[in-house]
Amino acid sequence: MGNSQWQQYFDQKAATHGASVKSSDYFDDDSFFVQRDHILQWIGPLAGKRILDAGCGVGAFSEPWTPANTVVGVDFSAKSLEYAAKRGLQTLSADLTALPFESGSFDLVVCIGVIQLIENFQPVLAELARVTKPGGMLLVQTLHRGSLQRKLLGLVERSKKFDRMYEMAELRDEFDRLGFGEASFLKQYHPFKTVDSSDSFGGIGDWFCTSFAIRGIKRGE
Ligand SMILES: C[S@@+](CC[C@H](N)C(=O)[O-])C[C@H]1O[C@@H](n2cnc3c(N)ncnc32)[C@H](O)[C@@H]1O
Repeated sequence: MGNSQWQQYFDQKAATHGASVKSSDYFDDDSFFVQRDHILQWIGPLAGKRILDAGCGVGAFSEPWTPANTVVGVDFSAKSLEYAAKRGLQTLSADLTALPFESGSFDLVVCIGVIQLIENFQPVLAELARVTKPGGMLLVQTLHRGSLQRKLLGLVERSKKFDRMYEMAELRDEFDRLGFGEASFLKQYHPFKTVDSSDSFGGIGDWFCTSFAIRGIKRGE
């Protein structure tokens, strides 16, 4: 689907499901909170930081950071942003390919479950990289193309609600090209609630990895 179709899709979801994570296409609360809490633990405690939640949806992912940090949520679904604002995010409706922020504005940029909706992901990652401070962290979570479960599902699935999936290597290479080092991964194995953090990839275990997050630190501080 193109950008304006996705925008309408998520506006419609938010109109139907309100503040629920179903508005952001999660299957249910449980699958969302398990994933969120693993990633929050992986990042560790944060205070006094400027954080960008890129493609924040209804803001449920970054809400736990709002009391102690400034959290800015950007999304092109204005309806979703109404709920993100109620969760304490400073919200702004914009496309992720053209962020209205100065370069180096954020200590942490997270982009969760978004780039699988975007065929041409490089301009989005370039914008996320631009607004990250030198020494700051960029974290992107998405679907793993090499997953055996997803390949099997692909054989029977009629309508896919995403445009593409990713290999860990291609995102690691893109992070490197954009000036991010110290890449590491958090691998998720749906429907199991286990995760595995690693700075490498490529073993047989990765066949069962359904989604992953990659984080890196911007060089040049
Ligand atoms: C699957 S939802 C994930 C929401 C949130 N990150 C979470 O994990 O709860 C994807 C979100 O990305 C937004 N989105 C997708 N492409 C976008 C773009 N190019 N610019 C701005 N927002 C976008 C959608 O409107 C939607 O709210």
